[in-house]
Amino acid sequence: MEYTANQVTLKNGKTCVIRRGEEKDAQTLLDYWEATARETRNLAREPEEYGLTPEEVRELIREKNGLDEALNLLAFVDGRCVGSGAFNPADDGSRTRHRCSVGIVLYREFWGLGIGTALLGEVLACARKAGYEQAELNVASTNAAAIGLYEKLGFETVGTIPRAMKYRDGSYADFLLMVKSLL
Ligand SMILES: CC(C)(COP(=O)(O)OP(=O)(O)OC[C@H]1O[C@@H](n2cnc3c(N)ncnc32)[C@H](O)[C@@H]1OP(=O)(O)O)[C@@H](O)C(=O)NCCC(=O)NCCS
Repeated sequence: MEYTANQVTLKNGKTCVIRRGEEKDAQTLLDYWEATARETRNLAREPEEYGLTPEEVRELIREKNGLDEALNLLAFVDGRCVGSGAFNPADDGSRTRHRCSVGIVLYREFWGLGIGTALLGEVLACARKAGYEQAELNVASTNAAAIGLYEKLGFETVGTIPRAMKYRDGSYADFLLMVKSLL
């Protein structure tokens, strides 16, 4: 999906630029996936599970940018990529075409500045423009910051998936299923 770059002022007074991820961002995205997976236990993959080459990521970005029903936005502060937010179809059948899944992850040092609110706000506005009627996500039930962000932007918890993630130490985390109407 097309997206015109936007900018917001953060709680610390800095400017955050939001633009679509492009093929030139492939290495930046790879570094970001691995680093953020190391920084939090709240994501579904271990850092080494992003086993793509920069060329494969470039191809993924090219493919996504050609679709009207998907968008991957990047946020930048002082020229540095600080996080990403996206929407994709929730499923692939015609009967589920009105539902998208959304996601957002920031580098830890940029939490709490309002970037999540701005970035997810843009993701949701674009998902609505793309024709989606409902946004959905799974979040670890212990992820207070993300749940706070989602509730602030109007998501409601509609269910729980017990033991949704299993860590290498044998412990589990439940997922909350959260939904927001875009109508
Ligand atoms: C979740 C995440 C994207 C939030 O982004 P953020 O930029 O820190 O969020 P914001 O600063 O915009 O805060 C938005 C709201 O979330 C809530 N919030 C933020 N941090 C919180 C915390 N530690 N505890 C409870 N609520 C919190 C507040 O309601 C806040 O609103 P306010 O600023 O008006 O008080 C960020 O913490 C992150 O990237 N975490 C790691 C990856 C992750 O867990 N992603 C979600 C996977 S489902």
